[in-house]
Amino acid sequence: MTADFFDDFPPAQSSTLIAPGAALLHGFARDVDALLLTAFEALIAHAPLRHWVTPGGRTMSVAMSNCGLLGWVSDTSGYRYTARDPLSGQLWPAMPAVWLDLAVRAAAVVGYGSFRPDSCLVNAYGPGTKLSLHQDKDESDLGAPIVSVSLGLPAVFLFGTDQRSALLQRLRLVHGDVVVWGGASRLAYHGIAPLADGTHALLGRRRINLTFRQAS
Ligand code: SIN
Ligand code: FE2
Repeated sequence: MTADFFDDFPPAQSSTLIAPGAALLHGFARDVDALLLTAFEALIAHAPLRHWVTPGGRTMSVAMSNCGLLGWVSDTSGYRYTARDPLSGQLWPAMPAVWLDLAVRAAAVVGYGSFRPDSCLVNAYGPGTKLSLHQDKDESDLGAPIVSVSLGLPAVFLFGTDQRSALLQRLRLVHGDVVVWGGASRLAYHGIAPLADGTHALLGRRRINLTFRQAS
């Protein structure tokens, strides 16, 4: 066998265009998964996962934390970005370099070469946890995309258009998948169907999602 045999190994990562300006990069984060998770453990030691209350007074089933200059928070007075963690009064932890690097590379693959996230929302799901259909629209510059990294148990990602009533795609996201949406799809409604139970080799009965934004 000649060395040429290995020139295309491992195979180039595949991607799926899911809507104008939106793509699923299959397994894009896999080769750095252990580094991503080490940083995750350090982050939640400083800014623990917690369940926010929605403006309507409902406690969210997804547990959340943040890193970067701004963090997404919710309480009965509304959704917003804050520089400090309301639980501790401290600034949110800095965005880990390995996270930032991954998000910048993923955005660039989909054509968003100038994406420089200043905020990352961390979402933690257990069996049965879901995230209701919503738009990400609390960011001041909607010209920048959203980059979303999935780790752990598989999930069904619901992805529509900017019309709430539009038909939804149901995309299976597995460990290491990255979804990028911007441009014409930036205000697409999206959510996560109730998580099926299972056990993941690195994360057990959990799914972790990292959602990078240019919030300021
Ligand atoms: C989100 O919309 O903030 C998270 C989506 C996901 O968990 O994949
Ligand atoms: Fe979202």
